[in-house]
Amino acid sequence: MADRRPLWPARLHHLGLVSADADALVGFYQRVLGYDAEELTEGRWRLRGRERELLVSQGARAGLGFAAFAVEDGARLAALRADIEAKGAGIEASPSPLLGDDAFAIKDPDGNALVFGLPREARDGGADALCGRLQHFVVTSTAIRPMMAFYEDVLGFVLSDVVDGEARDGDGGGDPAAVFYRSDPEHHSFAIFRADHGGLDHHAYESGCWNDIRDWADHLSALRVPMFWGPGRHGPGNNLFVMFRDADGNALEISAELEEMPIDMAHRQWPHDARTLNLWGDAWFRSEP
Ligand SMILES: [Fe+2]
Repeated sequence: MADRRPLWPARLHHLGLVSADADALVGFYQRVLGYDAEELTEGRWRLRGRERELLVSQGARAGLGFAAFAVEDGARLAALRADIEAKGAGIEASPSPLLGDDAFAIKDPDGNALVFGLPREARDGGADALCGRLQHFVVTSTAIRPMMAFYEDVLGFVLSDVVDGEARDGDGGGDPAAVFYRSDPEHHSFAIFRADHGGLDHHAYESGCWNDIRDWADHLSALRVPMFWGPGRHGPGNNLFVMFRDADGNALEISAELEEMPIDMAHRQWPHDARTLNLWGDAWFRSEP
């Protein structure tokens, strides 16, 4: 099965964030996430940590510019591109200087840009004060079914969990409240939440363990950055988490102990309730349960 999915294994490599006040956003990520900042061109910054990387661009309004995935090797990248082209989806030029010349971009039905390629450089320098590998990103959508079809059928993401699963498989005809997708054994590198608006929902850093969550929470406290959700444990993914917001209001997650699922493991179904989203307590609902 793995050989029929050129995407597998792929990891989220970096995000491109757009901000109307990029100076302030870059400052936030330097101060709170410990990124080193380098202005590549006027209005465009590369933020680098040992396990995490972002590009920040000045733009009209805050949001996701693109999400870039690193695939396993050149052969898989070429196969993925051929697969996508055979399905009639449009390929665009990569907007990222961090991936090689063979990288390419594609837009999902909501207009979110995905980039696939091979990193130009290995990440081997520096030490993040607090560990956290850029691990997943999540979008909201007002039309989740075309998005699901695109990520599953065109790109080859593997479905891990469906919240409000009866809406996917039953006769009810409703839309799932959330779907989680993996591109390697980690439970999700991408997810979609149904909502009354589209766009970036959050991005997440996977730290090592519970004590790392504690250290991040103490760090955020010292910087007077309030957490708006957690600590808790998600049902889908079974990961520990806290969430807070950056200078633009984008939600960030520090996660630990995200579960793994083999490629051929069937997806599971969850009710759309508070316990699914947080086994420990209150939920952040993106749509009415
Ligand atoms: Fe998350």
